Amino acid sequence: MLSCRLIIGALLVVFLHHVAAQDTCPAGTQGVPGIPGLPGIPGRDGRDGMKGEKGAPGITVKLNKDGAKGDRGDPGIQGSAGKRGSSGDPGPPGPQGPPGDRGDPSDSKPRSAFCVSRETIDNPTSSTPIMFLNAITNIEGHFNVSEGKFVCYIPGTYYFAFHTTSFQKSLCVMLMVNGQKKATFCDHIQSSSNHYQVSSGGFAVHLKQNEKVWLETNNMNGMYAAKNKGNSVFSGFLIYAH
Ligand SMILES: *[C@@H]1O[C@H](CO)[C@@H](O)[C@H](O)[C@H]1NC(C)=O
Repeated sequence: MLSCRLIIGALLVVFLHHVAAQDTCPAGTQGVPGIPGLPGIPGRDGRDGMKGEKGAPGITVKLNKDGAKGDRGDPGIQGSAGKRGSSGDPGPPGPQGPPGDRGDPSDSKPRSAFCVSRETIDNPTSSTPIMFLNAITNIEGHFNVSEGKFVCYIPGTYYFAFHTTSFQKSLCVMLMVNGQKKATFCDHIQSSSNHYQVSSGGFAVHLKQNEKVWLETNNMNGMYAAKNKGNSVFSGFLIYAH
């Protein structure tokens, strides 16, 4: 404080002296400005400032080890097909199938058989094939009903038989093979009466293809058929083919 007063006092003296000089001294030529003075020596450091106020508390960050679970992510892209697996074990056997179709016996075994009947009270015409218009059996149609003859389609040995009814008249039946008489069977009525009779006959014969077999009568042609009284039938069948 003291040094400050000294400085102000010194400055006042210089100022007063300068004013007095102006008033009293005549004006001369102005001199050349002096050289600026040297910079002063740096001052000493100032004293320490006062201690500041206490600051606000900092934000506390709580670290959670587990953390909150995030949302479920989108499904990934479908992968390519895997490799084919190995074959499984064989399954159990299936149920039994239905029976097959019946086989055709004609494929393996030749067949020929017939049985035809005569159903008329008219006596047959002599020396011509006796007609049997009703076919009871006619396998493969080997008996030609319209001409009253069996036709051999399968060469072999055949058996032929007839069972005929006659009425009041004698009857002779002849077995014919290709126009030749092979056997004759006759029933002779001894006395005229209302008797029905049955006569029969048969034989085995070998036939070649297309040979024909039929029955004929002669003048003793009492063959007769009436309902419920009796019929006349002609039968034949293949014993074996050769
Ligand atoms: C049966 O005989 C008749 C008279 O001979 C003949 O016209 C006909 O063609 C014969 N039928 C068969 C199937 O052979």
